[in-house]
Amino acid sequence: MSAPSLTAIPVASRIQGFSYAIRNIVAEARKVEATGTRVRYLNIGDPIPFGFSTPAHLVEAVARAMRDGHNGYTASPGIAEAREIVAADFAARGVPVDADRVLLTSGTSEGIELALGALADEGDEVLVPTPTYPLYTAVLAKLRAKTVYYRTDPEHGWQPDLDDLRRLVGPRTRALVVIDPNNPTGAVYPDDTRRALIDLAETHGFPILADEVYGDLHYGGPVAPMASLAPDAAIISFSSLSKAYLAPGWRAGWLAVGRTPRLDGVLAGIKKLADGRLCSPGPMQYAIAAALSGPRDHQVAFRAELKARADLTTARLNAVPGMSCVAPRAAFYAMPRVMLPPGRTDEEFVLGLLRATGVLCVYGSGFGTDPAAGFFRVVFLASLDELGAIYDAMADFTAQFLRA
Ligand SMILES: Cc1ncc(COP(=O)(O)O)c(C=O)c1O
Repeated sequence: MSAPSLTAIPVASRIQGFSYAIRNIVAEARKVEATGTRVRYLNIGDPIPFGFSTPAHLVEAVARAMRDGHNGYTASPGIAEAREIVAADFAARGVPVDADRVLLTSGTSEGIELALGALADEGDEVLVPTPTYPLYTAVLAKLRAKTVYYRTDPEHGWQPDLDDLRRLVGPRTRALVVIDPNNPTGAVYPDDTRRALIDLAETHGFPILADEVYGDLHYGGPVAPMASLAPDAAIISFSSLSKAYLAPGWRAGWLAVGRTPRLDGVLAGIKKLADGRLCSPGPMQYAIAAALSGPRDHQVAFRAELKARADLTTARLNAVPGMSCVAPRAAFYAMPRVMLPPGRTDEEFVLGLLRATGVLCVYGSGFGTDPAAGFFRVVFLASLDELGAIYDAMADFTAQFLRA
């Protein structure tokens, strides 16, 4: 054998554009932990480490599926029983959709990846809100497609800026991403805004990718799917058991492709891509059927817990001099803003906070906002007492940071 090469193995250039700040920032937290400081992880939207539990009947459905021997591959779009129950759930929420247009996916994330993969070629454009959930930009970078950010406006409760959006539509626009209820802002869009978004997409002939993973976590009760406003519009909806059913590690999600024949080709493309990844986790598909056909009282309790935390977060952060926070109306995120001194960035603020207090948030620029604008995201799943202590530490640090 000739001498082995010592040259480093090259990495695909696409990886440079792939970034997911919510998890990338953990490397910094580990360094702080290594110095003996306790880190409080407010970076990931996972209710389980904060003491919330997956409903017992869902755990039982998965255990039963495993015991009954459902441990093989399933059909690529998922088991028929769960697809039918997802379709029935959409119908009950005002979206008539055939089970054949429903696919079970490894979380909302895989649904998003499959849909973008079926829609966007290299150089195509997809309209994505800013701030955004960063998976969209990461997947688009992988596809060598272009993220075109449209503004959502903190002065108007983080609603989409429709004029900005209209200006950004171009010949290569392939889809409009709508995250409602929203991560990272906690915003919920009124029906007239949702209708205006649908009108815009329909006029130009591109689909809406409706990320509805927080649809059941609006504090006032479930939000109807966007497609219920226009069942014949080209809308693909995504959701999962991760948030409203408290089972993020199961990777159990679904997508539903609107009934318009204009989406038939995209549906076929999604199914083709789904064949290549075999199937989503099999036993967890049985929990989807149990979740959507069983009791949902855990959601009533969870929404009340979240609302109390949202109220505390809004009150405490708005009381910090130099800070402001739009009240979240759903989910477990807030996107406060600190008035940074000239030349400072959101990342410096967040890393400073981490090093000084052990509190880990994510800087707004990880969600696409301007680094100088001073936004950062807080996950408020900790108990009220712990959040109180966290906001005390945040207030002290902010006073020092703004003085320096
Ligand atoms: C807006 C949004 N979409 C999708 C996801 C991914 O969810 P899943 O666990 O269903 O893949 C998240 C997770 O935080 C999210 O906030």
